[in-house]
Amino acid sequence: MSGTAPAAARQGSDLWARVFAALYDPLLWRGERAGMGARRRQLLGRATGRTVELGSGTGLNLPNYPDDLEELILTEPEAAMRVRLDRRLRTTQRKAKVLDASADQLPFTEGSVDTVVSTLVLCTVDNPDAVLREVERVLRPGGRLLFVEHVRSKSPRLALWQDRLEGPWRRFAEGCRCNRATLELIRASGLEVDDVQEATWEGMMVPIVRPLIFGAATKPDSRRA
Ligand SMILES: C[S@@+](CC[C@H](N)C(=O)[O-])C[C@H]1O[C@@H](n2cnc3c(N)ncnc32)[C@H](O)[C@@H]1O
Repeated sequence: MSGTAPAAARQGSDLWARVFAALYDPLLWRGERAGMGARRRQLLGRATGRTVELGSGTGLNLPNYPDDLEELILTEPEAAMRVRLDRRLRTTQRKAKVLDASADQLPFTEGSVDTVVSTLVLCTVDNPDAVLREVERVLRPGGRLLFVEHVRSKSPRLALWQDRLEGPWRRFAEGCRCNRATLELIRASGLEVDDVQEATWEGMMVPIVRPLIFGAATKPDSRRA
């Protein structure tokens, strides 16, 4: 919501942001148990070195990072989510820094990050191309983006429903675009997709968010050429 929006609209949006943050874990609970939790563990076990997570939300990824990770930085621009993220972090032994930062303006110097993590975030950011440019900027050559994202369906029928329901879903889910072709956006960025798998987000009641991709993309090392 822009800073020039009428006060009543801003308050309504802040209130929904708080409600959505409170509903987030319960809404995902079945899906986490039906396979998303295992997927997070599998993916985040690949994080190495200085690791930056985009849009950490309530911190569902926290238990899944390797214990010997050099540094973990969790970024989250939404205050209502950050409150829950801080709270979850305090209940763990993990050392991590929480930053109020948007994924399209990361407060890191060029080539200073080994791993960037995006789980269910590229669907929500307003400008995924700008975010991917920023990811590419902060990663060192050879550094990796690890991702789990729900995406536009390959089934024309489900994709049609994703298009039809994009507006109401976006308003409900705080900006999430259920019809975004995120893999194509990653492929079109400067990153090279190393491996990608398609899956179904089991346990989610709403079919429009079920098509999933997960995998890794690397910032090419220009010295190799
Ligand atoms: C669907 S939630 C995913 C949360 C968490 N990554 C997970 O896997 O459960 C999307 C998150 O992206 C955050 N977000 C929205 N816009 C963002 C932006 N421009 N930069 C970074 N995070 C953003 C939201 O606040 C929210 O926490």
